[in-house]
Amino acid sequence: MASNRTFTMIKPEAVAAGHAGKILDMIMANGFRVVSLKYTRISHHEAGAFYEVHKERPFYGELVDYMASGPTYVAILEKENAVEDFRKLIGATDPANAEEGTIRKRFAESKAKNAVHGSDSNENALIEGHFFFSTREQH
Ligand code: CMP
Repeated sequence: MASNRTFTMIKPEAVAAGHAGKILDMIMANGFRVVSLKYTRISHHEAGAFYEVHKERPFYGELVDYMASGPTYVAILEKENAVEDFRKLIGATDPANAEEGTIRKRFAESKAKNAVHGSDSNENALIEGHFFFSTREQH
């Protein structure tokens, strides 16, 4: 079922490289409304919990270390069919496979340092949004 909200993080390497403004601009120019936005640095423990679904994967340790390595922008976004449309806008996980015009094609360094996160389902969009934002921080 289509939902109108998704969740994103602009990851540490993209923030450190100064790409956050351009990425947010691309997101808004593509019709996503910002419901919530925060500049934050997640702890190692929080990163582990956020990516718990990948716990058994070989890259889990690297992913958790990396996500806690510097500040990120986290946001809830709204648009019709948000989860699917946002995944199209960000492109494939591995920037080598991402299409022209996508955020990852333009800004990602590698499969691990891939500039942005986007929820993969409506259910996860809700869980991930609530991980960072209380109801009164969602407008
Ligand atoms: P994201 O959309 O945040 O969801 C899970 C993350 O795991 C993914 O983006 C990548 O950053 C990371 N990831 C997926 N596959 C690999 C891999 N093979 N090696 C390192 N990191 C990966």
